[in-house]
Amino acid sequence: MMRFGSFADAWTLAEDIPGWLTPDQARLLWDEARRLQPGARVLEIGSYQGRSTVVLAAALADSGGQVVAVDPFVDDWKYGSPVTRSRFEEHLARAGVAAGVRLVADYSTAVRPTWTEPLDLLFVDGKHDVLTVLDDLKFAAHVRQGGRLLVHDCFSSVGVTLGVLPLLRPGSPLRFLTRTGSMAVFELGSPGVSDRLRLLAQLPWWARNIGIKVLLRLKLRGLARRAGHDSLYDPF
Ligand SMILES: C[S@@+](CC[C@H](N)C(=O)[O-])C[C@H]1O[C@@H](n2cnc3c(N)ncnc32)[C@H](O)[C@@H]1O
Repeated sequence: MMRFGSFADAWTLAEDIPGWLTPDQARLLWDEARRLQPGARVLEIGSYQGRSTVVLAAALADSGGQVVAVDPFVDDWKYGSPVTRSRFEEHLARAGVAAGVRLVADYSTAVRPTWTEPLDLLFVDGKHDVLTVLDDLKFAAHVRQGGRLLVHDCFSSVGVTLGVLPLLRPGSPLRFLTRTGSMAVFELGSPGVSDRLRLLAQLPWWARNIGIKVLLRLKLRGLARRAGHDSLYDPF
């Protein structure tokens, strides 16, 4: 397998792969994967054409780690076409990271009940409805002590945000650390008051992002620009 000395090397291979991951979020994935122990196992839920998979696998390449990529490659209006899986495989091969990735072509919710392998990092970017997100977060039970979870679209999607709100309750197993755009970082551990307040404080920003998405759907780009969103694409 190829070796990648820096994030820039990895991003050169990933940036042309279609997907929604921003360069800053790719950097966050890289940094989180690079801090793991040798031989680490990273679970990625939702791989699409492999943009995030390539970054994670490149980050683990030097240390013998593995990305387990879970995606059923559904044939739907937004993500799917029968060729999504073959594009995913082609992109991994072209980047030279295929040997560091194990594909599980199934729904996360089908895989989760019988999952037993310990995880060092969990990246959640699969189906964005509340029930699936609630179920995906249950993979946290397999993350090693002190390990982290990254959740994409955490503050730009109704389903994902509703799915993480139960983490506000006292005694929840995950505490919110920070975010890059809408990609949130959680860590295993019981949240204190300040962790819960920090998560709550993201809600106005989430409401703003949902508002921007509504404006874009209504083709009111001028209003979206006035709200600070100067892009044709949704805020991620
Ligand atoms: C937003 S895309 C993932 C993008 C990818 N992480 C990237 O950065 O390029 C969401 C993906 O989740 C997949 N998906 C949908 N339902 C899923 C489920 N229940 N489990 C795992 N993946 C799912 C879709 O097939 C789609 O490829």
